[in-house]
Amino acid sequence: MTAAQRRIETLRAEIEEHNRRYYEEAQPAISDAQYDELLRELRELEEAHPEWADASSPTQRIGGKPVTGFQSVRHGVPMLSLDNVFARDGAEAIRKFVVSVENELRKKDSLPEAALAWLVEPKIDGVAISLRYEDGIFVRGATRGDGETGDDITGNLKTVRNIPLRLKHAGDAPRVIEVRGEVYMPLAAFKRLQAEQEASGDPPFANPRNAAAGALKQLDARVTASRRLQFLSYGTGETTPGAALQETQEGLLNLLRRLGFPVHARTWLVDSVEGIMGAIHELDAIRHDFPFETDGAVIKLNDIALREIAGFTTRAPKWAKAYKYASEQAETVVRAITVQVGRTGVLTPVAELAPVFVSGSTVSRATLHNEDEIRRKDIRIGDTVIIEKAGEVIPAVVRVVTEKRPATAAPFDFLAHIGGKCPACGGPVRRDANYAWWICENPACPAQKTRRLEYLAKRSALEIESLGGIVADKLVESGLVKDPLDLFDLTEEQLAVLSLGTATEPRILGKKHAAKIVEARERARSLPLARWLFALAIPEVGETTAYDLAQFHRTIEEVATSPLLRDVLELDRLRQEVEETKPSRRVKKETAGEPSGDPARHAQAVAEMTAAMERLERAGFAERTRKKEGEGFVTTAGPVIARAVLGYFASAPGRALLSRLKALGIDPQGTPRPGDAAHLPLLGKSVVITGTLPTLKRGQAADLIRAAGGSVSSSVSRKTDFLLVGADAGSKLEEARASGVREIGEEEFLLMLKA
Ligand code: IVH
Repeated sequence: MTAAQRRIETLRAEIEEHNRRYYEEAQPAISDAQYDELLRELRELEEAHPEWADASSPTQRIGGKPVTGFQSVRHGVPMLSLDNVFARDGAEAIRKFVVSVENELRKKDSLPEAALAWLVEPKIDGVAISLRYEDGIFVRGATRGDGETGDDITGNLKTVRNIPLRLKHAGDAPRVIEVRGEVYMPLAAFKRLQAEQEASGDPPFANPRNAAAGALKQLDARVTASRRLQFLSYGTGETTPGAALQETQEGLLNLLRRLGFPVHARTWLVDSVEGIMGAIHELDAIRHDFPFETDGAVIKLNDIALREIAGFTTRAPKWAKAYKYASEQAETVVRAITVQVGRTGVLTPVAELAPVFVSGSTVSRATLHNEDEIRRKDIRIGDTVIIEKAGEVIPAVVRVVTEKRPATAAPFDFLAHIGGKCPACGGPVRRDANYAWWICENPACPAQKTRRLEYLAKRSALEIESLGGIVADKLVESGLVKDPLDLFDLTEEQLAVLSLGTATEPRILGKKHAAKIVEARERARSLPLARWLFALAIPEVGETTAYDLAQFHRTIEEVATSPLLRDVLELDRLRQEVEETKPSRRVKKETAGEPSGDPARHAQAVAEMTAAMERLERAGFAERTRKKEGEGFVTTAGPVIARAVLGYFASAPGRALLSRLKALGIDPQGTPRPGDAAHLPLLGKSVVITGTLPTLKRGQAADLIRAAGGSVSSSVSRKTDFLLVGADAGSKLEEARASGVREIGEEEFLLMLKA
């Protein structure tokens, strides 16, 4: 074994150990930066030594290139479901279940003398999956699908960092073992995702389970990776025939733990109906402290041999049951339906309810999501409805109690209700082509402005704490703020006398609060670029993206015309072109003779794509995870973000924003990583080439300029930074001299690149 090979092995083991500490013990031993450093070292060594590649290496957790669809997988042992009993059926339902299992065993002459033992486990509200290991290595992961056949989502599952890619103590496991369990989105990750959805103006997910299911269905594993999913195991599927596993469920969970799988720490071993009920109640008391959602308990016969005897129905085992806790519901009346205008103009219908107490708090409003949702549930003003805290957080209307519907209640017509126009500004509305939303089309809509102002002041944005919803409302209402940045023009006096009350109950903001706002506002001027990019509510730019962009750009202007983002778009286009021009491998009969693909364009596109990738990589804006062309190439921001950002700054509002910031003297600074400037000496520079250069061909010079972060333009303009001049230069040289553009020769140019 060479030193490099040993180092690779050590790094792999170390990184997996850090994953385990991080995910299972929540006790990381090293910082994220140190972790990234280990991963980087491993990746480099693996790239240098492809002969030691290993599918179970932690570097393989980062998804490769997006797939176009998932393959089907037939489960060797079907993935069954569980029959439910509900809280409202109480202990009686559990007694029936226990008796039915006893009867089943008695029928087969197998009922033991001693009472049956049961293991009670939390029921994790996630997505059921099956993981296949052969010779200790994770080879395939699949969804449940219809129970018989699921989707192969191996690539996505590899990004779930507490799924072992290689078994520990593999000698204790059968050669082939399928481990079953639940992938879930931790509540903290769900909260963060919801905030990001909100920040980018996308609709929120209904609950963590939907979010987890959505993340697993991503065709691009990098998206899955960013969703921070986790896994908990609770059983097995197919194993090598004849392999003896464990005698009990309890033993099986211990074995899974020993093999490196996460297993829930809390289970109850009991031997009576009372014992089962006790466990169910204990679990109910502590389940809200779990980092995932539980909607029930699972009761399993502990003895595995007896389970085989008790058998299965076509849908579910006869030896297990899911006990579903009641989600707290309450009945109330929809007094009115109001429509809220969001930051991006989305109109959200809200049920104004007669206040009612549910799951620990008084609820007086519930979101109705959108037009289609109201229609589906046929919710009308005046209806009596059942509400529930969905996922114990956002109150939702579950259903209408139609028996209590007043004769006068008419079906709800969204468009008629808002009179065909924005309820805030009276502006035109349109229904979004992709979502069931209506959108206010008026960019000057005061409600949108208010929400944007509020957003700008948020703690995670410019941190202007005294500026909350009401102050934002009144600033817009009074006409003092027409655009969020108008805040920077207000005097302390103007703020102090801002009226917050009503005609009957007058009240003003006052000196103290006005001073606080001004103080926070002045501090905000020098906040870093990341905060500003987030605060300005640029489409698709949430907190994380803002931070990422600020690591690669010095100023907001640099972001606006970012050569990196342009390259991301270019790469996206070229990838398509490469795909389209690919010489197809199989030539069909009917098209035989006709040229397939376009080899010349293909070669050209591949070359351009490679060049763009190299530029991005050199800038540190992308990472290559595999050697093969186009594969495993991850950029810090993808084409959707690049398009939204460049598009926004090219639009009238975007340009207006830039000049406004300039006029206000606000020039937030990014924190490009050290070394970037050295990598990109021409970052953001526009260069024109003229004449014949002594050694470089024009194309070569252009490539070098682009690789150094600059752009090449064919004519001299105000934006030109340099003129690269060779022999026999013509009119461009005159133009450059006339407008005072700096001239450089090839030698100086090459020195610049080295700088
Ligand atoms: S055992 C043969 N144990 O609940 C079926 N399932 O509603 C074995 N689930 O499909 C399932 N937590 O996806 C089992 N501790 C647990 C579970 C659990 C969640 C899911 C599983 C199952 C569904 C049935």
